[in-house]
Amino acid sequence: MHVLALLRALLVLFACIGIATAQGCVADEDCSLNGICQSSSGRCKCDLGWKSDDCGVLDLLPAARWSGYNYTNFTSPDFYGTKGNSSWGGNIIQDRQDKDLFHLIIDQFPRGCGLSGWRPFSTVVRAESRTGPAGPYHYAQELLGTFRHNAKVIWNPADEKYLLYTIGIETETPDTCKSYKWANNVSVSSAPDIRGPWSPSERLLDGTNPTPWPLWSEDNPTSEIVLGVEDNFLYQADSFGGSYELIKSMPWNTSDYSDHWTEDPFLWRDKRGNWHILCHWMIDIAERNEKYPRVGGHLFSRSLTGNWTFKLQAVYNTTVLFTDGGRTDYYRRERPRLYFSDDANLTPLYLINGVQEFNSSASYTLIQPIRNGVKLRERERGF
Ligand SMILES: *[C@@H]1O[C@H](CO)[C@@H](O)[C@H](O)[C@H]1NC(C)=O
Ligand SMILES: *[C@@H]1O[C@H](CO)[C@@H](O)[C@H](O)[C@H]1NC(C)=O
Ligand SMILES: *[C@@H]1O[C@H](CO)[C@@H](O)[C@H](O)[C@H]1NC(C)=O
Ligand SMILES: *[C@@H]1O[C@H](CO)[C@@H](O)[C@H](O)[C@H]1NC(C)=O
Ligand SMILES: *[C@@H]1O[C@H](CO)[C@@H](O)[C@H](O)[C@H]1NC(C)=O
Ligand SMILES: *[C@@H]1O[C@H](CO)[C@@H](O)[C@H](O)[C@H]1NC(C)=O
Ligand SMILES: *[C@@H]1O[C@H](CO)[C@@H](O)[C@H](O)[C@H]1NC(C)=O
Ligand SMILES: *[C@@H]1O[C@H](CO)[C@@H](O)[C@H](O)[C@H]1NC(C)=O
Repeated sequence: MHVLALLRALLVLFACIGIATAQGCVADEDCSLNGICQSSSGRCKCDLGWKSDDCGVLDLLPAARWSGYNYTNFTSPDFYGTKGNSSWGGNIIQDRQDKDLFHLIIDQFPRGCGLSGWRPFSTVVRAESRTGPAGPYHYAQELLGTFRHNAKVIWNPADEKYLLYTIGIETETPDTCKSYKWANNVSVSSAPDIRGPWSPSERLLDGTNPTPWPLWSEDNPTSEIVLGVEDNFLYQADSFGGSYELIKSMPWNTSDYSDHWTEDPFLWRDKRGNWHILCHWMIDIAERNEKYPRVGGHLFSRSLTGNWTFKLQAVYNTTVLFTDGGRTDYYRRERPRLYFSDDANLTPLYLINGVQEFNSSASYTLIQPIRNGVKLRERERGF
């Protein structure tokens, strides 16, 4: 037997009997498809932005306080409560013409009602930053009025339009802080420019937490769209306004309180063509009825309808280190989104989350840098 083959066989053997496997890899799957398994060393070489033996942990850097979008201290005479302009995550969009301008498309609950007022107070707003993708962002415009939530925006080259997926329904809001319960439906709206005009939201399917990914590429300029929703169900349509067919559901138990319980998926296809989902993993609710600390989940697969792997481990947790040397342990950290480099490498540069501190009913949108790519690029761009 060739010596390498023997080594590989030994690795597999160790994997089977569960010893000495911490650093070993035999296939790129052992590197979470976030890197390459080097056959010479039997170790993973992680892509920029990922770390640990299996490349299964986001390589996060300290965040700057008051970056992102945090207007929980804002108030106005027409507010019904004291929770400011609360928000719950967003998407970073680099302006297509003006490359130094960044937009953050956010779910915002104004009126001071806080996170529990998300239904019916949520609106989709646009904020701007000229100080880089981490912000701080400043309110610029309301894109969709109440009730619109779960905004996920993506540029679709096939239509040369932004697609804005949301859940919600057009409704009036009450004149006191209230919380409503409704069944959720996913809709889509489109616009040639991020400032609009946005087409009326068109209802697509029952569900929540939409996460689209256009299948367009230069080699295959198709208008087909993949759409993930809660529980990592994957749908596909011929075009964004078309009819969405279920193409994949996960083989494991996705029920509430199971160890695979997730929400808030964020779907992407990486530079090698592999598929990934970052999501809010709810293991601590399942195990201890608490919302922290293990909140980041990661799923990956070589093909959309193929064999997805969900390693039950935290990709990130509720602890955030800050550039001032401080640390905040959040109560809730959900709605993960990545902002990638705009080159073919799709290097993850920032992690965006909706966060809530302990003993607070307000919430805001945190943007945390990811190592390497971001430093490099910020230096290049002079931020
Ligand atoms: C967000 O704003 C609140 C005040 O409403 C403040 O206490 C908190 O430190 C801010 N967080 C960050 C990360 O800037
Ligand atoms: C909210 O916090 C920011 C950042 O510290 C500060 O600039 C602003 O004045 C505060 N606003 C209010 C209304 O306290
Ligand atoms: C809070 O949100 C409202 C829109 O609902 C906006 O008019 C206002 O400028 C926002 N305040 C800040 C400080 O961003
Ligand atoms: C979602 O759609 C159903 C019909 O399938 C409707 O009964 C319900 O009111 C809708 N809910 C919202 C929030 O749009
Ligand atoms: C799925 O998980 C839930 C919650 O733990 C449990 O109650 C249920 O029995 C599980 N279903 C199956 C088919 O294992
Ligand atoms: C799916 O992938 C996992 C590892 O990522 C592997 O252990 C398993 O054998 C694969 N299953 C199938 C049916 O290919
Ligand atoms: C989150 O993970 C970091 C790094 O592993 C660890 O230092 C920190 O204590 C964890 N936070 C919590 C709340 O467990
Ligand atoms: C939250 O408030 C409770 C008392 O109401 C206190 O015991 C606890 O330490 C507070 N937690 C944090 C993280 O501040």
